[in-house]
Amino acid sequence: MRVGILTGGGDCPGLNAVIRAVVKRGLQFDYEFIGIRDGWGGLVEKSTMELTHEAVSGLLPVGGTVLGTSRTNPYKTPGDVDKVKANIEALGIDSLICIGGDDTLGVASKLYDEGINAVGVPKTIDNDLSATDFTFGFDTAVSVVTWALDRLHTTTEAHHRVMVVEVMGRHAGWIAVYGGLAGGADAILIPEKPFDPAEVCKYIENRKAKGKHFSLVVAAEGAHLKEGSGIMTKDDTTDAFGHAKLGGIGEFLALEIEKQTGLESRHVVLGHLQRGGTPTAFDRILASRFGVRAIELVHEGKFGQMVALQGNSIVDVSLKEATAKTKTVDMEMYKTASVFFG
Ligand code: F6P
Repeated sequence: MRVGILTGGGDCPGLNAVIRAVVKRGLQFDYEFIGIRDGWGGLVEKSTMELTHEAVSGLLPVGGTVLGTSRTNPYKTPGDVDKVKANIEALGIDSLICIGGDDTLGVASKLYDEGINAVGVPKTIDNDLSATDFTFGFDTAVSVVTWALDRLHTTTEAHHRVMVVEVMGRHAGWIAVYGGLAGGADAILIPEKPFDPAEVCKYIENRKAKGKHFSLVVAAEGAHLKEGSGIMTKDDTTDAFGHAKLGGIGEFLALEIEKQTGLESRHVVLGHLQRGGTPTAFDRILASRFGVRAIELVHEGKFGQMVALQGNSIVDVSLKEATAKTKTVDMEMYKTASVFFG
């Protein structure tokens, strides 16, 4: 059995840990591995690398992905899907393990419908994939947000300011809610609950009345006003999957808070810091469990499936179901986080 492995979409701590787990478990079945470079782009261009035991040894704590990644969508450019299929055949690939978020796995699901033996592994710091309780990379991103909030806390308090911290997550507020709760945010704004800046200012004024002359506000990049122009974007461009570059809500809100409360305000955009560097222990373990199960699915001939975490069990779910809709924030969790607002 010759197994191809690819990583697609935004990178995410734990990708290398999955690759290592797939290869190490697969070598026990005497499988051969071929690494596809730069996501689906590598199958369009036939760009590959060897994946031996030596190549994956030592990868467990390493961030990024040794395979490289891209947001290439073969269904976007006429002729690319045919190239992907022809190259899979030319490279002698019997099955393909695709590690990605809803975009990469959406392509895997369509290719499976067209006869490719694909298995999916869910990856995204955004934690917005249905059918799995958590994706690896999310815990690392939340840890970075928590670390940042702890640091911002002291400088914000020293200057009696308001600090608005913009975090990633696209159209889901998972990173904001978990990071904000762990870092003691005084307000958390998420895409799932459009807000009015006056409500945020009320929390800040409440704190002032209690003698707290500083506040930390966490805003998900996809958070938006109840009334207004919608989600803020950096420019008019979109990627091959139609995603805009989100950003700007942190700066907007800091200015608005300063205007409405008279308190000096600043903003910080955590951006790609949340995706870089070494995965947490939780993500290393989840990535390793996912990788082991993914290659076992191949061994069992269970294609068109994605590995997932449900409770504390690793289960198999259909790729089609898993990529059908975005998993938005559990509002019970948001309610708990909001106990600490104001
Ligand atoms: O999906 C992961 C993610 O980090 C989002 O949270 C963010 O909106 C987007 O990717 C950023 O993408 P890029 O790396 O292309 O700027």
